[in-house]
Amino acid sequence: MANEINTIGVLTSGGDAPGMNAAIRAVAREAISKGKRVMGIKRGYAGLLQEEIYEMHTTDVADIIQRGGTILQTARCKEFTTLEGQKKGADICRQHGIEGIIVIGGDGSFRGAQKLASLGINTVGVPGTIDLDVSCTDYTIGFDTAVNTAMDAIDKVRDTSTSHERCSIIEVMGRGAGFIALWCGIANGAENVLLPEKYDYNEQALVNNIIENRKKGKKHHIIINAEGIGHSASMAKRIEAATGVETRATILGYMQRGGRPTARDRMMASMMGAYAVDLLCDGKSNRVVGTRDGKLMDMDIDEALQMGKSIDEYEYQISCNLSK
Ligand code: ADP
Ligand code: F6P
Repeated sequence: MANEINTIGVLTSGGDAPGMNAAIRAVAREAISKGKRVMGIKRGYAGLLQEEIYEMHTTDVADIIQRGGTILQTARCKEFTTLEGQKKGADICRQHGIEGIIVIGGDGSFRGAQKLASLGINTVGVPGTIDLDVSCTDYTIGFDTAVNTAMDAIDKVRDTSTSHERCSIIEVMGRGAGFIALWCGIANGAENVLLPEKYDYNEQALVNNIIENRKKGKKHHIIINAEGIGHSASMAKRIEAATGVETRATILGYMQRGGRPTARDRMMASMMGAYAVDLLCDGKSNRVVGTRDGKLMDMDIDEALQMGKSIDEYEYQISCNLSK
């Protein structure tokens, strides 16, 4: 076969996500089972440029499927966004005999993979981000765990909010995307959910809603606010002043990125990681792995990066209907 791959590199890049370890394990074990050499690259593209590269054996990925974070560490690397940095990265791959690289991360990381592919290193991207904001795929590794973590935390805030008859604004992660917020809005039965894709900044409508709910006898009022809107603390002050209802802000923050991956994340990470290896072994490059309608698939990175992703209108409508 032309361009047969003998050595596969793997790195994690961008924000970490629960399930990344399961994906690393799957890459290493699928590749080794096919007689390939596997090189772990630490700290994403930063580690590649620093040549933080080591050979991975089956035992190096033992006992990690259940762990959050990434054993390879992760980083954001400015140098790799320059052509000079990318050429240096491709040369380092060649020096270490790495013919193909699997990049586990989000859209930004895939842009790096795209550049490496154009410089002759075969690449496959595996979507790993809690934000679910990779357009070409229905699922990204880490989302399910992050939503479950946020959901549990919001349930707890709700308990104390009810006891004190307060309004709580709870800010969840997601960068510019509202997927985590929307899922929590529905799963936690929030009174309001503010999504960057939908929010019209009409705070008076929120105020009216809180006052109406008080009249109806509701003892708490949960507002899920997406990070992309932010400013939860100042919003809480304004809402308290306008409604007379004690209002507190809670920013869940980085706890959403950690913790033991759920079964869904372990499963998706294992399947996507192994599938990425199979693509490289089949001579494919410049591809991204994903799922569509519950099935594994892959597509060209250039095409994938052109796509957009929006909030499901029906889910959003239901979140509004059920919160009344
Ligand atoms: P994510 O992969 O989660 O979207 P980032 O957007 O922070 O995270 O990207 C992770 C890393 O990918 C960046 O720090 C950089 O090293 C690399 N990267 C991002 N954009 C590009 C680009 N246009 N060209 C090359 N590398 C890029
Ligand atoms: O992409 C995952 C994510 O946790 C986003 O939800 C958040 O906006 C961002 O990473 C935070 O990144 P950093 O770790 O650089 O603060």
